[in-house]
Amino acid sequence: MSLDQFLHELDELAHSAAAAFDAAADADALEQARVAFLGARSGKLKAVQKGLGRIEAGDRPAAGKRFNEAKSSIEAAFESAHQRLAAAARPKSRDEQFDPTLPGHARRLGRLHPITQTIVELVDIMGRLGFTVAYGPEIEDEWHNFQALNIPPDHPARDPLENLYLRDADDGKGGALLLRSQTSTVQIRVMEQTPPPVRVISLGRVYRPDTADATHFPMFHQMEGLWVDRGVTMAHLKSVLRLFVTSYLGKDVHIRFRPSFFPFTEPSVEVDMSWNDGWIELGGAGMVDPHVLTSVGYDPEEVSGFAFGLGVERLCMRRHGITDIREFYRNDARFLRQF
Ligand code: FA5
Repeated sequence: MSLDQFLHELDELAHSAAAAFDAAADADALEQARVAFLGARSGKLKAVQKGLGRIEAGDRPAAGKRFNEAKSSIEAAFESAHQRLAAAARPKSRDEQFDPTLPGHARRLGRLHPITQTIVELVDIMGRLGFTVAYGPEIEDEWHNFQALNIPPDHPARDPLENLYLRDADDGKGGALLLRSQTSTVQIRVMEQTPPPVRVISLGRVYRPDTADATHFPMFHQMEGLWVDRGVTMAHLKSVLRLFVTSYLGKDVHIRFRPSFFPFTEPSVEVDMSWNDGWIELGGAGMVDPHVLTSVGYDPEEVSGFAFGLGVERLCMRRHGITDIREFYRNDARFLRQF
């Protein structure tokens, strides 16, 4: 074999080996290419090497040198293909993974529950009418939930079926405890601690074993109002309620007062508001019973007052056209996100 022919074969082999290594898409393909070109027994390089012996003796040193160069370049091509595949298989670092062209993840912001938003607004309206805010506990004793409100021990309003008692009266631990069934408890707490005049509201949760339906829930919120001073009359009560309701619901809402009975007010009224084509009960109200004034140490000959207790959920429902009170407490984000 001539030297030229040998060198030509060597060049061809180096080229095709480099191309095969570059084309290998995974480790298996690269290994196959390695065996085909560099395999110790039947690799193509081995076959070309056998041609060395047929070269004239004078040309053999030059041919051997070129053979070694070609072998090194083929091995280098294999090594670089090996590195390329190893780099692709390595898990990427956080920086390498970060793609600044991808759209970002929008963060969902939370918001106040619609009833909390309503409470904030009601406090604001009543604040403009001169009412400050008072708070009371949700777990109450019988004095504040009943007795001081003129609801004697044998009164049906104390029935365990009408209330959520937490502790029995006769278990020797200091009297019965219950989840308050009305915010009127706070009237008593305020009057016990403050001499007249008082003009307060109190907003919070109350609990009753009521069956849930579109307008009732066993846990709901009330806004209690109390104004005691010299010369406070039923006319003040009606004006304040009308002003309050139209401030919150707009001028087109109608309210009406119906004679009613509460043990702690005399006279008492039920307050309804217009609702679709009819009416819905918004709350109870009346002039604070002299008995109640006396029980907290006020002098009914000196001062008089009115009180009211309104359903907060119902106000919010009418304002936003919500037809089912249960929506507030289902925790469905699609509902809550609308407020
Ligand atoms: C009372 O709770 C009296 N404490 C109101 C009061 C205060 C009268 C001060 C006189 C002086 P009543 O039980 O009617 O009254 O409840 C008042 C309002 O709470 C109702 O008109 C209604 O709007 C709302 N309410 C009552 N029960 C539920 C319920 N289960 N779910 C949602 N709202 C209710």
